[in-house]
Amino acid sequence: MGKKNAFPILIEGLKKMEYRGYDSAGICVGHNNDLMLAKKKGRVVELEKDFLNEYGVCSLDGSCEKRYELKEIKGGMGIAHTRWATHGEPNETNAHPHFDCKKEIAVVHNGIIENYNALKEILEKEGHIFVSKTDTEVISHLVEKFYQGNIEEAAIKAIKLIEGTFGLAIICKKENKIIVARRGSPVVLGVGENENIVASDVVAILPHTKRVIYLNDNEMAVLMQDGYAVKNLDGQNVEKNIEEIKWAAEEIEKGGYKHFMLKEIFEQPKAVENTLRGRIDEDNNVKLSLDIDFSNLKRIIIAACGTSWHSALIGKYLIEKSANLPVEVDYASEFRYRNPIVGPDDLLLVISQSGETADVLAALREAKQKGAKTLGIINVVGSTIAREVDSGIYLHAGPEIGVASTKAFSCQVTALLLLALFLAQKRGVKIDKEIFVELKNLPKKIEETLKNSDKIILLADKFKDAKNFLYLGRGMNFPVALEGALKLKEISYIHAEGYPAAEMKHGPIALVDSNMPVVFVATKDNTYSKILSNMEEIRARGGQIIAITNEVSQDIQRLSQNIIAVPRCAEELSPIINTIPLQILAYHIADKKNLDVDKPKNLAKSVTVE
Ligand code: AGP
Repeated sequence: MGKKNAFPILIEGLKKMEYRGYDSAGICVGHNNDLMLAKKKGRVVELEKDFLNEYGVCSLDGSCEKRYELKEIKGGMGIAHTRWATHGEPNETNAHPHFDCKKEIAVVHNGIIENYNALKEILEKEGHIFVSKTDTEVISHLVEKFYQGNIEEAAIKAIKLIEGTFGLAIICKKENKIIVARRGSPVVLGVGENENIVASDVVAILPHTKRVIYLNDNEMAVLMQDGYAVKNLDGQNVEKNIEEIKWAAEEIEKGGYKHFMLKEIFEQPKAVENTLRGRIDEDNNVKLSLDIDFSNLKRIIIAACGTSWHSALIGKYLIEKSANLPVEVDYASEFRYRNPIVGPDDLLLVISQSGETADVLAALREAKQKGAKTLGIINVVGSTIAREVDSGIYLHAGPEIGVASTKAFSCQVTALLLLALFLAQKRGVKIDKEIFVELKNLPKKIEETLKNSDKIILLADKFKDAKNFLYLGRGMNFPVALEGALKLKEISYIHAEGYPAAEMKHGPIALVDSNMPVVFVATKDNTYSKILSNMEEIRARGGQIIAITNEVSQDIQRLSQNIIAVPRCAEELSPIINTIPLQILAYHIADKKNLDVDKPKNLAKSVTVE
């Protein structure tokens, strides 16, 4: 909402937001009491194509080339959406925005309307005609039902009937206003010069302003030509602080890399340095400003999803090893619905890059409701989970745009080690000072590891046509095997499984033959001889071994022709060093298959629905 034409700003915003969902896109711009709506299956560029003017540019040598520019679509008010389908298949009809019957009201929505079927039945009985299979369309018809010339009042009445989660925006052709509201899904308001921009994520706002307001659940905002107001769902004004985004605009650009994922893999030395900055003083005391009383702490439960869950598994090893405190690790979605036994002597630690993952948010609220202390290891500043935990550790890894998480994982494991050492110092558990030297050298060790890429590219070429992969590791490297398998699955669509190496003989070894690449994370630790035996078992069945190791022994050279050497480091840091070659291997296999590495099919960077 502003003085400039909204259309080009919305198209650029959609492109920035596309990593959050990209199966279809749509836009609606209001001008002169009319609404122009367009939507398309697939990427934002497909939608944009319908609004491009082609023109030719000829140079003095007579050669001409085609250029394209956006048609001018008048109107300073508009809403837009990129979709990650929950209800109704990805197609043009189910794409957002959704109109009411009279095409006077348009709605975009992020979340799930749990009672949409019941509402739809009522509305259909009242004569409303539904055109899509989405839950969202219920909102535009509900607003239409209550509309008496005041879109704000109609929106409030409609929202009060909705059960479930939403981040939504509503416009009406008769009024120069945008109504936005949230419950469960993120909504950020960007306060600009003569313009205001709302989005689910700051990356779409950053090119326009760094001044933002984070809406809380059951809050709404009204954007007008000359300002905005934040209100509760009874329409009463709510005072809100304007916060400053610390990220620079160029941080959300590719910076010359082919993909964000590759850029973020190579940003890991700097990102880990930022996670460490100011958190270990000259006397090796770990400084974490956590206002949580750890004195009676009996147990830590870590809840997370996906890659963050893998770092949580490593966190268990680190905290139990350094701080001698029992740790349980749970998938957040399972923790939420298993009626967990937690109480005031427990700490729920949630790990989330985006800070918006709905399963993690639900687990957090469940534990808080049961009186547990809560702590978050989060990357996105100001995100919902970051604002709801009792205390937290920000990663300072910078924006992570590639859907496949890379630098956030390394920073999460670094933060978990800092937390483990912090708890050890609080509990008076003796720590080997060598670990602090290793931590200070970690960014350098990561740089060294990244230098191996060329060798890994050759292996990617060799194994890119494999149909299946197995990843094996022991101890802290078992979660590394899981993470390696996840990276390959999510961007190359090759089926891959991670296992504790010793588990092979209890079933999965039946899958092994000469077509099965088996990745071993075989760095020197107290399980080294055991992992060599596991490699023998695979070799004996013709499996093709890829070995990640910091000990290129004769045994390893005899067992594998595909060795990736990594620098030696403390056992606690090996999961970070060992995961990086697996990130690079997955990246190059997917890139060699010409797949869209940054936006793999069916995925979204932040899963804001349960
Ligand atoms: C990892 O590459 C995936 N993008 C996904 O598994 C992710 O880790 C998961 O959705 C959790 O996201 P979060 O860390 O933002 O909560």
